[in-house]
Amino acid sequence: MITETLDFLFFFFAAIAAAKATGFSRTVSPSSLGLRKEKLSHLHFYFHDIVSGRNATAVRVAEAAMTNTSATGFGVVTMMDDPLTEGPDAGSKVVGRAQGIYGSADQKEVGLLMVLNFAFMEGKYNGSNLSLLGRNSVFSKIREMPIVGGSGLFRFARGYAQAETHTFNLETGDAIVEYNVYVFHY
Ligand SMILES: *[C@@H]1O[C@H](CO)[C@@H](O)[C@H](O)[C@H]1NC(C)=O
Ligand SMILES: *[C@@H]1O[C@H](CO)[C@@H](O)[C@H](O)[C@H]1NC(C)=O
Ligand SMILES: *[C@@H]1O[C@H](CO)[C@@H](O)[C@H](O)[C@H]1NC(C)=O
Ligand SMILES: *[C@@H]1O[C@H](CO)[C@@H](O)[C@H](O)[C@H]1NC(C)=O
Repeated sequence: MITETLDFLFFFFAAIAAAKATGFSRTVSPSSLGLRKEKLSHLHFYFHDIVSGRNATAVRVAEAAMTNTSATGFGVVTMMDDPLTEGPDAGSKVVGRAQGIYGSADQKEVGLLMVLNFAFMEGKYNGSNLSLLGRNSVFSKIREMPIVGGSGLFRFARGYAQAETHTFNLETGDAIVEYNVYVFHY
């Protein structure tokens, strides 16, 4: 019994020593990463989800056998590379792209699982990205989805995005959605 306990303690301390020796983890100060004061930014843009025509920016990549008979299209998965513009007009200045996946994840109402990265291409945020993961009940007026992280100037980002449909073309399925994103970052 005593030997077993000693063996255990030996391995326990050996493991700690090994962890220290390999430098697997350590505590650092925020200033060592150049992090100063946390700030709150508001981003405003329009998201163009074009599913029709030859220049579609969102394509259906998978579906279930039951998708076409489901009232909510349950099981359909779409991959997007949607332009983000400053104004609602498709010809207005492109500020980034929404790249990711949305899938119909609710059998009772149209509720999408959204998993995407906003890749920004304008101003100081050019080259920085934000990641969104949330639920989008597309027929509700304003949908709120969490911003779960970011890169570049958006390192350590957290916040939320509010989406409101600007126009939805019932014939083609194309949509323009207004986004307001509030994000804490350094
Ligand atoms: C697709 O894009 C091309 C090149 O920008 C353009 O000439 C064409 O009119 C577009 N087609 C449609 C259907 O929007
Ligand atoms: C569902 O409908 C779409 C569009 O009409 C069609 O392209 C697809 O083949 C259908 N899928 C199944 C599994 O029936
Ligand atoms: C964004 O950055 C890329 C790569 O550094 C550069 O080529 C591009 O011109 C920049 N865009 C704007 C609008 O500043
Ligand atoms: C953000 O995304 C763009 C394009 O998807 C990529 O080129 C860039 O390296 C990313 N930025 C960072 C800081 O990871």
